Amino acid sequence: MQAIEPPAHAGDAGDARIAVVTGASSGIGEATVLRLAREGWTVIAAARRTDRLEDIARSAAASGARGRVVVATLDVRDITSVDALATAVRSEHGACHLLVCNAGVGGGSLNGRGDLDAALDVLDVNLAGTLRCCAAFVDLLAASAPSQVINVASVAGKLGLGPSAYVASKFGMVGLSEALGAAWRARGITVTQLNPGFVHTEGFPQTWATGTPAARLVVGPEVIAAAVSRAARRRTEEVTSPHWYRGLVVLRHVATPLWRVLARAADGPRRRSEELRTRRSQAGS
Ligand SMILES: NC(=O)c1ccc[n+]([C@@H]2O[C@H](COP(=O)([O-])OP(=O)(O)OC[C@H]3O[C@@H](n4cnc5c(N)ncnc54)[C@H](OP(=O)(O)O)[C@@H]3O)[C@@H](O)[C@H]2O)c1
Repeated sequence: MQAIEPPAHAGDAGDARIAVVTGASSGIGEATVLRLAREGWTVIAAARRTDRLEDIARSAAASGARGRVVVATLDVRDITSVDALATAVRSEHGACHLLVCNAGVGGGSLNGRGDLDAALDVLDVNLAGTLRCCAAFVDLLAASAPSQVINVASVAGKLGLGPSAYVASKFGMVGLSEALGAAWRARGITVTQLNPGFVHTEGFPQTWATGTPAARLVVGPEVIAAAVSRAARRRTEEVTSPHWYRGLVVLRHVATPLWRVLARAADGPRRRSEELRTRRSQAGS
């Protein structure tokens, strides 16, 4: 792991709390790293594109962040890589107070047999990747208690809207977070499901909303980073961000038939754009 030191005028990060953020090289992960470093955390920023992580670490240091950013290579599909990160954090930092399982990919529509491998890949990164990280870090989290896992799931994992494998992976993350929360509470570990709505990022450019009234529903990754920071401060177990999506989540559970009618209408533009993409790619192949 490679540390980029904060500037000399920055505050003393010697007693900083230790956070690990996966999927830290762009979008929500990047914004979360910068936010936590600004607040004084020592942040281990992990992903595959380490050149991007080094730029993020340099920009945290240049902005005068009180905490420091340590760059680490991680592929959440590979248990050897995940175990190596947990071992390095234990030996180099001695603790992990916060694990943010954020690495994730979109896609995974299932329209035919040819889509299966891509759908399984989505489950492997989003759900199995989270499971691997939780398994590799649990002993260190327990030794560092009170500590916390924040799993970046999605409102898709509450509402059932979106590409099938993606939605399944996020429902899985929600269930995993609830079950682990119950199982690990006695060990001093809070497990949080953090469910973002539409966020404009590299992997999720939200082009379907461009030029439509729905563009107002799309927020920047800093909004979700602020929600991560709040959840870490308050040790909240469930967070919906932006918070107004919460109304839809409640509606989906207390008035499911009404929700289904509204959801079909509201999901029209996204589904039409997905169908258009599928038709174009079939015409091109
Ligand atoms: N944007 C949204 O609308 C939205 C809404 C709800 C939930 N989310 C969730 O938020 C999380 C972050 O997504 P984002 O929107 O910030 O997208 P993003 O900018 O594309 O970021 C995805 C991150 O995941 C990392 N990643 C992908 N595969 C990985 C792997 N095998 N091992 C390790 N890291 C991997 C990527 O880094 P490398 O490629 O460098 O490894 C990248 O840092 C995802 O879990 C996503 O499902 C997003």
